Parts: sequence; structure tokens; C-alpha cells
Amino acid sequence: MTHLNLKLRGLAAIASLWAAFAGVAFAQTGNATGSSTAAITPTPVYPAWAYLWEPGFVVPTPDDLPQRIPGSNAVFSWNNARDLFFVPDWHPQDHAVMPAVVAQGRKPDVRACGSCHRAEGTGGPENSSLAGLSSAYLVQQLLDYKSGARKFSGPQRSSVLLMTAAAKAMTDEEILAAANYFAALKPKRNIKVIEADTVPKTYVARLFYVKDPKGGTEPLGRRIVEMPDDVEHFELRDTRSQFTAYVPVGSLTKGEILVKTGGQGVTAACATCHGADLKGVGPIPNIAGRSPSYVMRQLYDFKHGTRAGALGSLMKPTVEKMSEDDMLSVAAYLATLQP
Ligand code: HEC
Ligand code: HEC
Repeated sequence: MTHLNLKLRGLAAIASLWAAFAGVAFAQTGNATGSSTAAITPTPVYPAWAYLWEPGFVVPTPDDLPQRIPGSNAVFSWNNARDLFFVPDWHPQDHAVMPAVVAQGRKPDVRACGSCHRAEGTGGPENSSLAGLSSAYLVQQLLDYKSGARKFSGPQRSSVLLMTAAAKAMTDEEILAAANYFAALKPKRNIKVIEADTVPKTYVARLFYVKDPKGGTEPLGRRIVEMPDDVEHFELRDTRSQFTAYVPVGSLTKGEILVKTGGQGVTAACATCHGADLKGVGPIPNIAGRSPSYVMRQLYDFKHGTRAGALGSLMKPTVEKMSEDDMLSVAAYLATLQP
């Protein structure tokens, strides 16, 4: 408890420091445009490709038959993989022992963190990677979900509702145990980024894109289509799962310029706060090599005020003038970097 309080006092101090810094950084870009347009601002239409939600998708009925994946001697079933109070641990030698909150959660509301975020915090396009994010950052996010300051744009998908319910029910001890566990893991590079006009035909398996086994192609348009390379292994919670993200032609160069220079006042060079390699500084998170769908949702949520946690005010001016296509390009470029 005292540990957590200490951490939070530290965070508050950092927040005010950075607030002062951000004030300077954004002064010349004319951040204050006034709020006179608030009344006529149309309801934002969220980028559906980043907030995939197909509640009508029928998940195959799970069973107890033994399943195996390459590189592991373990055996788990689809019932194990679909149980949100259990984590199929295919590669226990790859990581430290999970604390109870990560491995089993606590009924009724704290579902096992490792079930959705995987045993090694590798996550997936529909949630978030957690491996290697600092403990201070992770604690702050859980407190922001708990207080309601961090919410979600787009449809209220089952996964985000369960995430919020978990955070609201977590004790301080559980928050610290989970944060320390994920912070100590090494983030893995697991996304291959390909610029393309045309992509394999897809369907939405409830929360994420899957390549249509019948084959065929479809135009990409102004989307990012991020898919697990092997959907069965991914859904069985294999932490070694790999992903491919198809991004529009030209988006990587555009994203790189925005990230590195701020694009002449569109935004600020990300390294000023996220560190030279973008791998984070204290409570400011790593943004390199993360899921581009996840990054897109965060930029959009900051811009539209649904993500407004203790340190979120520092990101708000960064995204204020970014168009959706700017955000897409930044998300695409960041995914190419080593996490
Ligand atoms: C039912 C699935 C599910 C479970 C269980 C779950 N999460 Fe999440 N988590 C999510 C989703 C979905 C997001 C948000 C993704 C987004 O914003 O688009 C998320 C986001 C997060 C974030 C924000 C990451 C960041 O980079 O800011 C943290 C931290 C987090 N979860 C921690 C936990 C912890 C700790 C537990 C265990 C108590 C847990 N989660 C359990 C689905 C889940
Ligand atoms: C003025 C400092 C500052 C600048 C400049 C800045 N960021 Fe951030 N960023 C932050 C802080 C602080 C957070 C954590 C916010 C929170 O806790 O909600 C953050 C969070 C994020 C997140 C959420 C990550 C996660 O794990 O959920 C993303 C994505 C992000 N920033 C992208 C960017 C990009 C892209 C740029 C450059 C275009 C940028 N940031 C520039 C301070 C900054």
C-alpha cells in the first residue's frame, strides 16, 4: 500500500513537470483554438477498422480435446483457452512465474490478465501488449480505468467492458503484482508490416480480422488490416504468435516524418517525451513495435477525450490537429520499430 502511495506521489510530481514542459512545447503551435465550435462539432465517426466488433460472430463451441502447438510439450484444450479465469502457459520457461492475479484472476470480476494479454503480455490487436511497460505506467493506467478517467471510444466491446470491470475490482496489492510482473517481461517483436493496395480477403472474428480461408483479395483503402498469421495458435493463447499488418502505400514515410519531426506543427516529435528510441521514460510508455490497431485507438481516444487519465493531458495537444490519416500513418510506422 505505502509502496503504491509512494509511486503515485512520484507520478503527480512528474505530471506537473511535464505539464509545464508541454505548455512550452505547444505554445508556438497555437494549441488554444477556443471552444466556440463545440456546439456544432459533429459526432465523431470512429475508424471501424481499429474498433472491430462483430457481436453476431459465432465462436465455435469449445471442447476438452487435447490441443498442441509447435515448440511446446504442453497440452491444453479449447475450453482452457476460452476460460477467462485461466491462462494456457505454453512456454513456462520463457517467463517468470505468473502472480495469481495474472494466472487465475479472482472471481467474480477480476479475470486473469494473462488470458487476454497472454502469459507474456504479448497481447493482440484487440487488446494491448503489456510486456516491458514500466510499472509506474501500468499502475497509473489501472487506476485510470478504476476511476473512469480512461474509457473507450467506439462500440462498447465485451473485452473493454471486462477490462474496466477487472480494474474496478482490483485491490492495490493486485495492481502492484500485475504491474511488476508485466514490467519485468521483455517485449517481443511480433508484427510484420507490409504496404499494400490489395490485401487477402478478411472477415471479422468478433474482435479482430482473420484471413478468409476461402482465399481472394479485397482493396485495403485507408485502413490497417492487422491479423494473426495463425489464428488457431493465437486464440489458443500462444505467446509466440506472429502478426501481419497491411498498411496503405506511402503511410510508412508519412508516419516516419510525423513521428520524427511533428510534421511542421501537426504534432510534436514523439521522442521529446517518449525517449530517443520511443521506448518510454518513467510513466511515459513505450510506443515502438506495438499493435498498430491498438495505437490507433489510443490516439483517437486521446483526441476525443475518452482517454483522459492523469497523464493523458500531455497527449491531448499532440493529437489535437492530427487527422485520422495522420494517426493511421503514425500507427503504421511505429509498428515497424523494435519494441
Ligand atoms: C477480457 C479481456 C481482458 C482481461 C481479462 C484483461 N484485460 Fe487489460 N485490456 C483489455 C483490453 C481490450 C484493453 C484495451 C485496449 C484498447 O484500449 O483498445 C486492455 C488494456 C489494458 C491496459 C492498458 C495498456 C496500455 O498500454 O496502456 C492495461 C495496463 C491492462 N489492460 C492491464 C490488465 C491487467 C493487469 C489485467 C488483469 C487484472 C487485465 N488487463 C485483464 C482486455 C483485457
Ligand atoms: C508532451 C509529451 C508527449 C509527446 C510530445 C508525445 N507523447 Fe505520447 N504520451 C505521453 C504521455 C504522458 C502518455 C501517457 C498518457 C496516459 O497515461 O494516459 C503518452 C501515451 C501515448 C500512447 C499510449 C500508449 C499506450 O500504451 O497506451 C501513445 C500511442 C502515444 N503516446 C503516442 C505518441 C505519439 C505517436 C507521439 C508523437 C506524434 C507522442 N505520443 C508524443 C506524452 C507525450
